[in-house]
Formats: sequence, C-alpha cells, structure tokens
Amino acid sequence: MSEDTTNNSDALSAIDSRTGKEYTLPIEHDTIPATKLREIKVNDDDFGMLSYDPALKNTVTCKSSICFIDGEKGILEYRGYPIQETASKGTYLEICWLLLNGELPTAAELDMFQAEISAATYAPQDIQKLHDVFNKNLHPMAMLESALAALGGEFDDIDDVLSAESRHQQIIRLIALTPVLAAMGYRHRNDLGPVEVNTDLSYSSNFLHMMLSRKGREHEIHPALEKAMDALLILHADHEQNCSANAVRAVGSSRVNPYSAVSAGASALHGPLHGGANQAVLEMLNQIDSVEDVPAFLESCKNGERRLMGFGHRVYKNYDPRAKVIGELAANVFDVVGHNPKLDIAIALEKAAVADEYFSSRKLFPNVDFYSGLIYSAMGFDARMFTVFFAVGRMVGWLAHWNEMMADSSTKIVRPRQIYTGYERRDWVEASDRK
Ligand code: CMC
Repeated sequence: MSEDTTNNSDALSAIDSRTGKEYTLPIEHDTIPATKLREIKVNDDDFGMLSYDPALKNTVTCKSSICFIDGEKGILEYRGYPIQETASKGTYLEICWLLLNGELPTAAELDMFQAEISAATYAPQDIQKLHDVFNKNLHPMAMLESALAALGGEFDDIDDVLSAESRHQQIIRLIALTPVLAAMGYRHRNDLGPVEVNTDLSYSSNFLHMMLSRKGREHEIHPALEKAMDALLILHADHEQNCSANAVRAVGSSRVNPYSAVSAGASALHGPLHGGANQAVLEMLNQIDSVEDVPAFLESCKNGERRLMGFGHRVYKNYDPRAKVIGELAANVFDVVGHNPKLDIAIALEKAAVADEYFSSRKLFPNVDFYSGLIYSAMGFDARMFTVFFAVGRMVGWLAHWNEMMADSSTKIVRPRQIYTGYERRDWVEASDRK
C-alpha cells in the first residue's frame, strides 16, 4: 500500500478577489475536493465555483489501487509489481488474476481461474452469425466493438452489476471470449471459416491458434512467438485512467451491463491518439522508404504536417517503460522470423527523434505503440488487427476498473459540467420570418 502522507490539518487558503472573502479547502493526497469550490460564491444564490479542465489533464476522478504510474521517472507497476517483471516472469492469466484480485494467485487459485476461463471459451452461435453479416472491409475494431455489445445479449444474468458474484461471472466470460471474438473477426476478414478452440493450449497459444490454424490443419505455434504474444498482452493489460479506462468507468457509472461498458472502452481505444496508434505507426513506417529518408520525415513532424506516431504520452515525460520491454521482445521475434528492414527505419527514427531538440524539449519519447506493430507484423498480421490485440490485452484492465468502481459504495453516475457559451434566451422565429 502506498504511504498516505496526508495530514488532517493540511489545507489550501484562497482569497476570492471579487469579494475579498477567504476560503479554506482541505488537502488530501495532494488534491482538493472539487465540490468544495462550490462554496465560493459572489452572491448567495450563485451556483458556486467550478474547475475547468476539458481533457481532465489535472483532475483526479477516482481512488484506485490497481496500477501505479510515475510518468516523470518512467515507472509502471501492476499492484506494486514493476512492469518489467510482470512481463518477463508472469503469464497473462496470472497477471489478470493479480489485476483483478490484488495479489498473485497461488497454484490452486491459478488452476481454478484457468479452468473457469477454459469453460467459458465457447462463443454463442449468434456471435458467429453476427460476424457472417459483417462487411469484410469493416475495420476489425468495429467488429469487436459491435460483438462485445452484442455478446451481452446472449446471457440473461448481466444486469446485476451491484452483485460481486454476478460481476465475477461476467469478468470470466469477457476475458475468455474477447480473444474468440477477435479471432472471429480476423477469420471473417480473411475468409478462413470457423475453427474450434483448443483449451489444452495456453491462453495466448489458443488465441494464435484461433487466428492462424486452417481447417483440419492446426498451426504450430513457435514458443518464442507465444511468449511474445503473452508478454504483449501483459504489457497492454492496464494503464490506470487512460482514455478507454475512463470511457469504461464513465459508461459503467450509469450501471449499464459490462459488455456495453467495455464496448465503449474498445471504441475509445480505436482512435489513433490512443490504441489505434499501433496501426498508424506501421502505416507511417510504410511511408518511409529507407533510413536515408528519416531526417526529411522528422522535419515534416516538426513543422506540424503530421505527428510522429508512437511518440509522446500524456503521462510519461520519460521513456515509456513498456516501449523498452517491447524493443527487447522485437529482437527475439526477429531472431525467429528473420530481419525486417522496417525495424532499421524505426530504430533510426527513434534515435533521430530522441536526439532532436523539438522532441526532447517537449519530453516526447517512444510509447508502447512504437514497436508493438512491428512484432505483430513479423508474426504475419496486417496493421488493422493491431489495435484488436491491444484490446484483448486491455480487457482485464477495463474489467478491473469497472469491478473496483462498482464495488465502491460511493460511486455516482459520471456527469461533468460545462461553461455555456451560447445565446441567452430569445424569442422563437416563425419559419416565414427566418433569414
Ligand atoms: N509528434 C509531434 N509532436 C507531438 C507529438 C508527436 N507524436 N506528441 C505531442 N507533440 C507536441 C504537440 O504538438 C505539442 O507541441 P506544442 O507545445 O508546440 O503545441 C506538445 O508536443 C504537447 O502535445 P499535446 O498534444 O498537448 O500532448 P497530449 O498530452 O495532449 O497528447 C498524445 C498525448 C499521446 C495524444 C500525443 O503525444 C500524440 O498524439 N502522440 C501520437 C499518437 C500516439 O502515439 N498515441 C499513443 C499513446 S500511448 C498508448 C496509449 O496509451 O494509447
């Protein structure tokens, strides 16, 4: 548990220059409760002061014990365990248990969890039928977003979101079935026909099998590629209050079922500034023909023509620790599948950007998405699948946050305020009088 250095008498004093009145706001965990600002008024019947923070850059929306980030130092921990260790020593299902329950599982707990996941890995027939009607050109993230929301309709026990037992049931189903939905989308787009799940395999091997095996011919998964997929799922498993986790929390706060809440999370993830960046990085690398073209490309990023995708982060003002681990994973994968010249371009791009004043003065470093796509690409997947892989890994993070929020009796529906900048009240204009 992190140390609480809050002193009960810690407080912020502020004088309102409009009235000369002084206010005292309590400080807890280096924050002030924003609702206390409402006491600051000019007239008694005023609504009171609000804080303005459009992208929630400086606003805490919850207390959470799942994931810790120190962006200045480049630290990421899951329930206190450094990301480097979770990725190298853990398996994805162990990390799921850790994120959901707060502790690493005992051998018996892990066996039970694996058995629960395996038993839930069979998708309802309707979900296959749903994929059959999708246009094959539909982005696989759009397929996943739709399928996640539709999946909820297959079960009649999804609405009791205040029951811990019911939440557990939905969490097991969603962790078990998200890779199945992802594989269904992949197979549909590539005309591969359905495949049986193989619960004798590990979670990540079964995921790769469900995508890569052909009818009657089981794909042999190279252990280094299985390890790489498992580590990538772990590296993506949670990242505290990111855009998609915030979407899940906001949507889930309405007490909607978790399938709809995580579908909203997947939609948020799809955007190129968030999880969609891994696809955008590969598309960017495809536009750079050789290492010699890197300086000119970087210039176009600096003069605002485009963003250097896979660079920069709202929270990290140092190396994203996930990017470092992924760089090492990439080397292992390329040892197996052979060298890819795109890796040389990516390395040259990173080196040039890190040394460049534009990027260093803005503290822009490679993030998790910079190298991950190259690994997926080396495994034979097309760029449109990359964000789907991110979503498969992130599912447990969304669910851990949703579960934490629903278990907290102080949770209220999320409903921000606005500064209204429109017209004052005015009279209706008849159609014949409108100009
Ligand atoms: N390329 C060029 N300039 C950049 C970049 C970039 N990738 N990122 C930020 N900047 C500049 C930006 O133009 C601004 O410059 P100035 O101060 O001169 O106006 C300054 O850096 C601050 O940028 P910002 O947009 O205010 O920063 P933000 O915290 O709102 O945005 C970000 C964070 C991740 C959206 C942004 O860095 C970005 O667009 N990166 C590229 C997309 C990307 O790789 N996203 C994946 C994020 S990590 C995975 C995940 O969690 O989803």
